[in-house]
Amino acid sequence: MLGDLIRKNRSYRRFYQDTPVSIETLRALVDLARLSASAGNRQPLKYILSCSAEMNARIFPHTRWAGYLKDWGGPAEGERPAAYIVILGDTEISKDFGCDHGIAAQSIMLGAVERGLGGCMIGALDRDGLRQALGIPERYEILLVLALGKPRETVVIEDVGPDGDIKYYRDADGVHHVPKRRLEDVIVGR
Ligand SMILES: Cc1cc2nc3c(=O)[nH]c(=O)nc-3n(C[C@H](O)[C@H](O)[C@H](O)COP(=O)(O)O)c2cc1C
Repeated sequence: MLGDLIRKNRSYRRFYQDTPVSIETLRALVDLARLSASAGNRQPLKYILSCSAEMNARIFPHTRWAGYLKDWGGPAEGERPAAYIVILGDTEISKDFGCDHGIAAQSIMLGAVERGLGGCMIGALDRDGLRQALGIPERYEILLVLALGKPRETVVIEDVGPDGDIKYYRDADGVHHVPKRRLEDVIVGR
């Protein structure tokens, strides 16, 4: 069921780093993105795939993790993503990527969850550093990095409480809690 996939499709930030994600899997995930909606059907998105330890190590230092978890500096060696998909905007096709990369990212993430994987969309990036590390030509805008792997943490959805706090948090058992606004609070007209 799609609803089950969407509920399971949480942002996972700790992984079994040694459980590989194959290049075929990454290609299959990009294939889902390729078939997704695109404004004006311009399809300006391009992708870089990474699933080797060497290339992963070039990407990781340029990613920023879980801003609300102030005492956590991101996944430690051993629990880092086993793969990445870098989503680029090809400026020779379009100057404005609208929400195409969000739609593509969601397709990829749902496909990953369907395959027993999980991940996190990373928009907080050292873009210049990443561009240099991967030798990404200026022609491409770096839009998002999708970190992928076999999740090594439990993430649960909560209702946003009366105080309205939307900050996610990790409890003493290492379980990650994500407050979501209630349905009646997000429908503002009918
Ligand atoms: C466009 C976008 C950019 C994001 N960038 C980051 C990021 O840079 N680092 C990070 O740890 N999480 C990032 N996230 C994950 C969000 O923090 C996460 O979606 C949110 O906490 C809700 O959790 P959930 O995905 O499990 O529903 C991003 C999510 C989106 C949609």
